Amino acid sequence: DMGGHDTYMHKEISEQADAVDRVLRGRIDDRFSTVHLGGLNLDPREARGIRRVKILGCGTSYHAGMIGAGLIESLARIPADAEPASEFRYRNPVVDPDTLYIAVSQSGETYDVLAAVQELKRKGARVLGVVNVVGSAIARAADGGVYVHAGPEVCVVSTKCFTNTVVAFALLAVHLGRIRDLSVTDGKRIIDGLRKLPSQIQEILDGEEDIKKLAAEYAEAKSMMFIGRVRGYPVALEASLKLKEISYIHAEAYPASELKHGPLALIEPSLPTVAIVPDDDLLEKNRAALEEIKARSGRILAVAHTKQEKADHTILVPKNEDELDPILMGIPLQLLAYHTALAMGRDIDKPRNLAKSVTVE
Ligand code: M6R
Repeated sequence: DMGGHDTYMHKEISEQADAVDRVLRGRIDDRFSTVHLGGLNLDPREARGIRRVKILGCGTSYHAGMIGAGLIESLARIPADAEPASEFRYRNPVVDPDTLYIAVSQSGETYDVLAAVQELKRKGARVLGVVNVVGSAIARAADGGVYVHAGPEVCVVSTKCFTNTVVAFALLAVHLGRIRDLSVTDGKRIIDGLRKLPSQIQEILDGEEDIKKLAAEYAEAKSMMFIGRVRGYPVALEASLKLKEISYIHAEAYPASELKHGPLALIEPSLPTVAIVPDDDLLEKNRAALEEIKARSGRILAVAHTKQEKADHTILVPKNEDELDPILMGIPLQLLAYHTALAMGRDIDKPRNLAKSVTVE
């Protein structure tokens, strides 16, 4: 049932304020400015002993894991990174007893992720799941975890589950952080930010008509560049994946700082750039990248909290805490991909060559 929407993708994008509300519900503890996660199966002493976090997933779940790694590193101060599960399992990784492994999956059935979990468990590692589908294979194989509670996602391309997965990681980061060195003040700051997300998401969704107009302009591009820096880079990666999956427009994502090491050679009027420009300590650096692109006559669509002078268009997104801004910045770009594909007449819920869950190798 599409509930009045023309596609499942549109329905699922539109549901995100409620979905985020669900992942937060019942988990925040205001008394200690922390987060309780019932199924984690990790006691405080174990949580203190973690020296490193390795996050594994595929596609959109991998991108959500990249943002998750950033959240864990900045809030819990544990070194963390994400890697495609398929790469990890084929490179005979060194499995370290002090590392917490986290498998991320919407379906909970992606074969490469499941195989990575099984290999890790065989080697004695502790593996948590950040999974949407309750009781799925990956959820069962993991030692514990966090359910994402995005609700059923039908469209082949993931949208609401991406957003909810990142929020689930923010909850986990606060939980781990408050056991370690995250202060009460910072715990409260992030919790307050999390509570603001549903209404801010709704505000972005209410701006859909403007994004639709922009999409009509960008649907003529043969290729698009997406850039972001640190927190913004996984947002760029995910937006670029979304666009290629449903519109079949070629897109690539680069860290803004890498432009000058090669891809700047591509910039010309026919290659538009979508730039993620949050108002954080890297704002000036990001603005410098916009200037480099403008100097080569590149068209720029910025996603930012204030109008960007160098950009041809700015999609405005409400400001939250710096750590949580990436969650909001991904949402208008889901709509941009959606309306671009729609303008091109694509089969949005069933893009060519793709399946909802990849249960084979
Ligand atoms: O079910 P999973 O989250 O494990 O799926 C992983 C990827 O196959 C999935 O995210 C894929 O990249 C989607 N088509 C993204 O829109």
